[in-house]
Amino acid sequence: MLKSIIKGFGHYVPNNIVTNDDLAKVMTTSDEWITERTGIKERRHRKSRVDAEETTSYLGYKASLKALETANLTAKDIDFIIFATLSPDYYFPGCGVVLQELLGCDTIGALDVRNQCSGFVYAMSVANAFIKAGTYKNILVVGAEIHSFGLDFSDAGRSVSVIFGDGAGAVVLSATEDENAGDILAVNMHSEGKYAEELAVKFPGTKYGWSDQLVKNPDALTTQEVYPYMNGNFVFKHAVTRFPETMMEALEKAGKKPEDLDMFIPHQANLRISQFVQQRFGLLDEKVFNNIQKYGNTTAASIAIALSEAIEQGKVKRGDLVLLSAFGSGFTWGSVLFEY
Ligand code: COA
Repeated sequence: MLKSIIKGFGHYVPNNIVTNDDLAKVMTTSDEWITERTGIKERRHRKSRVDAEETTSYLGYKASLKALETANLTAKDIDFIIFATLSPDYYFPGCGVVLQELLGCDTIGALDVRNQCSGFVYAMSVANAFIKAGTYKNILVVGAEIHSFGLDFSDAGRSVSVIFGDGAGAVVLSATEDENAGDILAVNMHSEGKYAEELAVKFPGTKYGWSDQLVKNPDALTTQEVYPYMNGNFVFKHAVTRFPETMMEALEKAGKKPEDLDMFIPHQANLRISQFVQQRFGLLDEKVFNNIQKYGNTTAASIAIALSEAIEQGKVKRGDLVLLSAFGSGFTWGSVLFEY
């Protein structure tokens, strides 16, 4: 029986730290408001809004180098790439192919996943299916985002722009038949597309307009189309319902209980959401990993960065039972339960 083992992990964030006080210099907000509502103290933004070098793929590349190093593998050992992001370098093609070139992999397949905050969980679930089917041996699974290029830093966008940050995380998921090795025990993925526009960037797209609109009639575009729109309260209410559902589904499928968990790593959407879920399941502080305070919400990268940090800090050890769960734009949600 083939098992899916996390062989390597890594993360990378831009050097540039943007504190809540920094944001308060460009918009009407405060450290107090942001900390109280979200738990975020600072986030990373790449230095400039347009940068041909420090792209989303580049962040993913830096995280991937670390994942390869910890896995003790080279780029030539990777036989498939799955790249989750909502902020690709180009509208098309996706970031996976750019990463294939940056790493110097063979002409392997590269798949982009467009599931926003649930992107990494979806990507891991797909990778697990390929491993279990015997299709690939070493899959590089990456979550990376550059949000800073496309946020509205005026007062009109403050409820969204204070939340999001840039960063990347990666794992190498490998096939093994070692009976002592860990494994992915359960996955689930869900969606509810009727809420697509409750958390979305609508432009460019075939519904609200394409690039020729930018050239011919840019004034017709509204900020709601160009910048991320989020119905914050609505998203919050759905998140606190869907998180417990997807968590229980994964645990039950594997015959486990919440108290069996050694670590729960929620998508870093908002510290209040994580705390709500923690209380609901009665999990001890040391069994929930949060780093949103330092990085904000990095969407598809958030769980990947958190997992990498948790392993690096010795908070996730070989043999531990770990649950990753996410909720976000789509709406989409899902979980991956694994033994590390
Ligand atoms: N600084 C200061 N004030 C702000 C602000 C900011 N950055 N953003 C919004 N406000 C103001 C609003 O204008 C509003 O003022 P008003 O009462 O005078 O109209 C007030 O704060 C409350 O706004 P509201 O949007 O109702 O706040 P909230 O308590 O819902 O918190 C979020 C906003 C976004 C933090 C919260 O809804 C949330 O966390 N939602 C979930 C978001 C999430 O997790 N997204 C990721 C999903 S994966």
